[in-house]
Amino acid sequence: MAVIENSKLTVVGAGSVGSSVAYAALIRGSARHVALYDIAAPKVEAEVLDLAHGTQFTGSSDIGGGSDLSVVEGSHVVVITAGAKQHPGQTRLELAGTNARIMRSMMPQLLEAAPDAIYVIVTNPCDVLTVLAQEQTGLAPEQIFASGTVLDTSRLRWKLAERAGVATSSVHAYIVGEHGDTEFPLWSKATIGSVPILDWVTPRGDRMSAEELDQIAVDVRDAAYKVIQGKGATNYAIGLSSARIVEAILRDEHAVMPVSTVLHDFHGVDRVALSVPSVVSASGASPIRETQFDHQERELLHRSGTALREVADSLRA
Ligand SMILES: NC(=O)c1ccc[n+]([C@@H]2O[C@H](COP(=O)([O-])OP(=O)(O)OC[C@H]3O[C@@H](n4cnc5c(N)ncnc54)[C@H](O)[C@@H]3O)[C@@H](O)[C@H]2O)c1
Repeated sequence: MAVIENSKLTVVGAGSVGSSVAYAALIRGSARHVALYDIAAPKVEAEVLDLAHGTQFTGSSDIGGGSDLSVVEGSHVVVITAGAKQHPGQTRLELAGTNARIMRSMMPQLLEAAPDAIYVIVTNPCDVLTVLAQEQTGLAPEQIFASGTVLDTSRLRWKLAERAGVATSSVHAYIVGEHGDTEFPLWSKATIGSVPILDWVTPRGDRMSAEELDQIAVDVRDAAYKVIQGKGATNYAIGLSSARIVEAILRDEHAVMPVSTVLHDFHGVDRVALSVPSVVSASGASPIRETQFDHQERELLHRSGTALREVADSLRA
């Protein structure tokens, strides 16, 4: 495997999410060098110091950073978390205008510093920002994509694993579509081990019904609202999922993950970024065209696409 030697990850934005991505990456050893960049100098300097003070315990990774764009130079992966976050009750799409402006001004500077990096967009609404940034920069869709529903899929697998009485890694199920209110699970192909999900007998001796699965999907969709209501932000799970995406890139893993790339004629969806199972490697992310959707799932994919296209169009206008 073409593992990148001396790999460098830069996290842009040192708020709750960015500092958690850096923390997770340090603890997991996701990259040899981790850098944190933010325009708020005192904040980023303090986060870097706090993280650096723990590096005795984090293996061979190191941490640096600050408010000068030179921090980004030499990055193999840039994870973007800069921008406004949801307030309690606010949808991700309501952040679109503010964060699109921030992204538009930031992307040329980042690209100048790290033209060959793979860009992973976490800032919300991540799907809309991905299509706008891909168009603005002209980067190949493989090179610039969003963390998408990797986090939502982890939330889903955690809930199903608990109910099924198996390890999370033995649940094979995906949330796809928008990272947001129109996301949905690919139930038609979901399995526990190799057993179709509706056939699995749980430790209680019963099987999960279609209604119960639908409720789990609603809980997953609304999970972020619940966390934001209680603590003002979601940060740990997105930190871990972003670090995992970074590893798949830097280790050239060809791992299958539901990241969000700009799709072209994907089951009839065009020029909109949506999460579908994709192969993530040192070249970036490629959607898996052979992914099967039943009739209803295909309709839901198109519904996600239509919702996001409307928001992106309003921002282009
Ligand atoms: N995609 C996901 O799964 C997911 C999950 C959680 C949060 N998020 C999103 O991540 C984003 C960040 O959330 P947060 O809780 O860390 O917010 P935060 O307010 O804690 O941090 C945002 C940081 O961005 C910085 N920033 C703003 N403009 C900048 C610029 N031009 N250049 C560099 N830095 C800049 C700010 O100084 C601040 O430190 C939000 O948009 C949030 O919705 C996405």
